[in-house]
Amino acid sequence: MTFLEDLDRTAWAVEQRLGEILAARDTTPPGGAELAEAMRYGALGGGKRLRPFLLIQSAGLFGVPQASALDTACALECVHCYSLIHDDLPAMDDDDLRRGRPTLHVAFDEATAILAGDALLTLAFEIVSNPQTCEDAETRAELIHVLAKASGWRGMALGQALDLAAERRAFTPEETASMQALKTGALFRFACEAGAMLGRADASCRDALLAYAKAFGQAFQLADDLLDAQGDAEAMGKAVAKDASRCKATLVALLGIDGATAHLAGLVAEAENALKPFGEEAATLIDAARFVAERRA
Ligand code: IPE
Ligand code: IPE
Ligand code: MG
Ligand code: MG
Ligand code: MG
Repeated sequence: MTFLEDLDRTAWAVEQRLGEILAARDTTPPGGAELAEAMRYGALGGGKRLRPFLLIQSAGLFGVPQASALDTACALECVHCYSLIHDDLPAMDDDDLRRGRPTLHVAFDEATAILAGDALLTLAFEIVSNPQTCEDAETRAELIHVLAKASGWRGMALGQALDLAAERRAFTPEETASMQALKTGALFRFACEAGAMLGRADASCRDALLAYAKAFGQAFQLADDLLDAQGDAEAMGKAVAKDASRCKATLVALLGIDGATAHLAGLVAEAENALKPFGEEAATLIDAARFVAERRA
């Protein structure tokens, strides 16, 4: 199987499972249909599903089958989808296009977008705290704790707050990198760490995956910022050329296109290097790092 076939297969599995979770119409309370529809709109029908892919691949390094890691991966994707819905709101990046379709607040309304985002975030914890997701209670509690930390006031939400603060004052390269490590890196970090947790990996394997996730997250956001500067809105399914106009802190703004492209290559090499202890077993995760740097969409 090629890397892209593998990624597609995971995306399909995530789509099916999230569809099942969000399709419980019989349990939708009276008056809840619109909110449920908005959650489906925000979570289904698009996205590369890279975070679930990394989680499943990391767990796979320790022999955990995809089916056993899938629900944790879906929980992580719910957090990611919530972050996108809120990221697009007029009060944040004010975007109209996401995954090739109108953003949720455009297709529904702002209040529904806020609530659908809130409900997807809490759904993530409903999923991850379900004994069917992970039957070992200790691992389950650890997953909940680490996901909460990755998502919240010291993780992704803080990164988003810093991203907005950077529109109002110049960030240094170090500040920009640490903002990006939070807004984007934190969820990739969880993906890899959750794989290690599900696989009951030892500390050295977990640390190797965390080092990979750190470089991967930086590479991912740098590629996103390069695509904002140079990419094609139709291929991306979202607006481009927005970061500069909104004075976003990006390494592209600080290093220029050539400098940022060279830095990206270094990050991919760093990600690959971190996986050395796994040898050939980690070939797919290495492909994933190369994919984010080369992608055009
Ligand atoms: C977009 O993430 C948000 C960033 C962190 C840059 P993705 O590019 O993974 O978005 P989808 O899920 O594929 O739409
Ligand atoms: C978004 O970063 C990061 C999160 C949603 C946490 P961006 O604002 O650069 O993402 P896009 O470009 O809108 O997808
Ligand atoms: Mg943003
Ligand atoms: Mg945005
Ligand atoms: Mg962007």
